[in-house]
Amino acid sequence: MRLAVIAGDGIGPEVVAEGLKVLRSVAPDLETTDYDLGATRWQRTGELLPDTVLDELRGHDAILLGAIGDPGVPPGILERGLLLRLRFELDHHVNLRPAKLYDGVRSPLAEPGEIDMLCVREGTEGPYVGNGGVLRRDTPHEVATEVSLNTAFGVERVVRYAFERATARPRRHLTLIHKTNVLTHAGSLWSRTVEEVGAEFPEVTVTYQHVDAASMFFITDPGRYDVIVTDNLFGDIVTDVAAAVTGGIGLAASGNLDVSGTNPSMFEPVHGSAPDIAGQGVADPTATVLSVALLLDHLGRTDQARKVGAAVAFDLSTRDPRGRVRTTEVGDRLAALAGG
Ligand code: IPM
Ligand code: MN
Repeated sequence: MRLAVIAGDGIGPEVVAEGLKVLRSVAPDLETTDYDLGATRWQRTGELLPDTVLDELRGHDAILLGAIGDPGVPPGILERGLLLRLRFELDHHVNLRPAKLYDGVRSPLAEPGEIDMLCVREGTEGPYVGNGGVLRRDTPHEVATEVSLNTAFGVERVVRYAFERATARPRRHLTLIHKTNVLTHAGSLWSRTVEEVGAEFPEVTVTYQHVDAASMFFITDPGRYDVIVTDNLFGDIVTDVAAAVTGGIGLAASGNLDVSGTNPSMFEPVHGSAPDIAGQGVADPTATVLSVALLLDHLGRTDQARKVGAAVAFDLSTRDPRGRVRTTEVGDRLAALAGG
């Protein structure tokens, strides 16, 4: 397995080290190449993602990314120039974000019940494409646009992926989340696509929900969700809500997938670089380890993925809820459990 590693900034290198430890415990054939990308490189050289680096990344089976970001870098630079550029250039059209409440994990909800959802967030379109502009900047008549791009091709492939995932799960249920009552143009494309693709998956039941109502039900009745499909921006928002009700951002994993397999997919914890706790060895590496499980699953290494997932489930079910997390201890324990 040829893995490109972008550890990044803040707690990124700390959690990635543990992710690799666990990965190596189940996949001894692992070969890694480190890429120095992120805030530090930008501050030192002004470079974000040189084309030569992008070309090299393409030669790997997958990418593991820790976290990118630093308070010393103005907002938007690293996001657009590095993280989003990677997702767009490598055609990561599915942003896969499971949200499962593990045994032993405390949810902020009083009676969370069982929560096990799989959010399929579109990754290369919507308002993220940078299709906008500004007129009369810095005047009282400034006009700013940020146009959401939705293509039949782009919507179809992500909706199809969501149906494929839904049909393989016991509940076989899919929820489309959008705002079709206001965003009528894009909303119509999404609804029609779900209807058309859904005809090929008669065993999957489908529900539609507006994003505002869904955000409420994620909190009042999260157990109703199985697979969710939604656009890039709605998906960004609702997956943070889903993470919150299933134990927080320290456990939230994600995969940025090029489902076609043309480009390497990229796996990253949903959390950021957390500069406030960086360097202290207290970041929970579990989100990264769960991202490693998604990576293994994506590469067809189902058995290895299952071992990593089982290690995390066991560790969480036996953790002292009041105990402090030590990054390397969690990694050591998970590696021993997964590899043993
Ligand atoms: C995420 C993040 C990114 C996003 C930012 C950092 C660009 O919030 O991965 O969810 O909006 O996709
Ligand atoms: Mn986000």
